[in-house]
Amino acid sequence: MNLKEKLAEQKEQGLAEIKEAKDLKKINDIRVSLLGKKGPITEVLRGMRDLSAEERPKVGQFANAIRDELTQALADKKDEIEVIKMAKKLEKETIDVTLPGVPVTTGNTHIITQIIDQIEKLFLGMGFQVVDGPEVEEDHYNFEMLNLPQDHPARDMQDTFYITEKILMRTQTSPVQARTMEKHDFSKGPLKMISPGKVYRRDTDDATHSHQFHQVEGLVIDKHITMADLKGTLQLIARTIFGEDREIRMRPSYFPFTEPSAEIDVSCFKCNGKGCSVCKYTGWIEVLGAGIVHPNVLEMAGVDSNVYGGFAFGLGPDRFAMLKYGVDDIREFYLNDVRFLSQFSQKG
Ligand code: PHE
Repeated sequence: MNLKEKLAEQKEQGLAEIKEAKDLKKINDIRVSLLGKKGPITEVLRGMRDLSAEERPKVGQFANAIRDELTQALADKKDEIEVIKMAKKLEKETIDVTLPGVPVTTGNTHIITQIIDQIEKLFLGMGFQVVDGPEVEEDHYNFEMLNLPQDHPARDMQDTFYITEKILMRTQTSPVQARTMEKHDFSKGPLKMISPGKVYRRDTDDATHSHQFHQVEGLVIDKHITMADLKGTLQLIARTIFGEDREIRMRPSYFPFTEPSAEIDVSCFKCNGKGCSVCKYTGWIEVLGAGIVHPNVLEMAGVDSNVYGGFAFGLGPDRFAMLKYGVDDIREFYLNDVRFLSQFSQKG
């Protein structure tokens, strides 16, 4: 067999092997054994030194062509194997988008926040501003500006956490009244605000008392404000939170910063006023305190009490939530037990 024939035979054998190859490792093995230093083609080429000067370039050319052809065949086969491999991988990794997913647990707004949100929505709709105030407050705003001078007996109504002699944890949201009145520019129109937030009292915690709870303060200052405006506003709150058919009644009460002052009851939403355990068989439930802003409070905040007057109210979202949902212990709101809180999910 001459060299050319030997090469042609190597080529056929090589092509056949490449055709059969099933993976990349095999391709590599074939490449090394066919075209490597110890491979048959190299071997044949080495034998060229015995050829005549005339034949040598021809055989050389022939051998190079074969090497190129085999190299190309190896590259093609490699591509083919890779395409198959990718196709198989894709098939294996196909996602069935119709399979049910892993459920993601989502939280919900705290029930107290839900009540506050409802009240904010109602008042924003009536053109009120929602104002924030500091929880660490000055005695000046928490008491003095609200007509409660030092040693006033009514200070005992609200047991207070003092930080220093003049700084305390606010016992009510009413200081936000004074802060807002002081800043308000009445030439631009009346003052209408609510202020929701946390308040603190040095109470012993039990089913109906928590050292931290919530209030929403309300204040309207304008010319010609009357008890009728107050009553209409309170009725709206009662109906928004406790239902369309609710009635309210006002009983005389006392707050140092309002005169006259009133305690507001709402007709029982459970028995519709007939009498049941929720309303303690009276048909009415006490829900908030309110009154006509005391002239001293206006004057201290720099508002002319001969021209302006208004009403204020303070309500407790915790109490609202307890009544509305039959929660019998206020401490539940602050324990952060998911089993309790998730009952108020709005997801339906
Ligand atoms: N601040 C009063 C309280 O905490 C509630 C209140 C607010 C009463 C505004 C009248 C007017 O008891």
